Amino acid sequence: MQNNGNRIRIAMLASGTGTNVENFIRYFASHAQIDISLVVSNKADALVLSRAVNAGIPHLVIRNDQWNDPDLVLGIFTESRIDFIVLAGFLILVPAFLIRQYPDKIINIHPALLPQFGGKGMYGRHVHKAVLESGNPLSGISIHLVNERYDEGRLLFQTTLAVDPADTPESLATKIHKLEYEHFPRVVEAYILTGTC
Ligand code: GRF
Repeated sequence: MQNNGNRIRIAMLASGTGTNVENFIRYFASHAQIDISLVVSNKADALVLSRAVNAGIPHLVIRNDQWNDPDLVLGIFTESRIDFIVLAGFLILVPAFLIRQYPDKIINIHPALLPQFGGKGMYGRHVHKAVLESGNPLSGISIHLVNERYDEGRLLFQTTLAVDPADTPESLATKIHKLEYEHFPRVVEAYILTGTC
């Protein structure tokens, strides 16, 4: 799968704000071996696309209905010589044909401690609200490989933080985002370069 050049090319998939994508762009900006080479969104008005524009990273939209088209989707990733795919707030299920094309090379982050608080519909505020309602004293982040079911691929890395009884979904989201910025690029880098995190 790796391209012929020396450098390793990551495509990032995101549906929304894209602060993690921006953090990856910053982290890998002058990396010796790895580039953020493409940003893909399923939403034409997603803020993540402006971040790609500002950083001068190639970007494009694959609409929800187009993700079922193997020729179109595989064509884009092959043409861009993508080696690894990283999801950061990407809200549609990755199609099986793409997973087969990139075995153990698609990585996602989930803003809670899987296997709890995952699955379809568990994204963004919904996750943090469910964590708070559970009374669980801990939350955290889960970085995992992507398989054909939401949030069920092999875990690569987890770390926790304490939930404050006074937390709201918004305050918890802010703390979780900080944890994501601190660990996500580093974990992806280690996984790509060494196979462990
Ligand atoms: C992150 O919390 C990530 O864990 C989840 O979606 C959120 C994306 O945030 N999968 P942002 O768009 O990177 O700010």
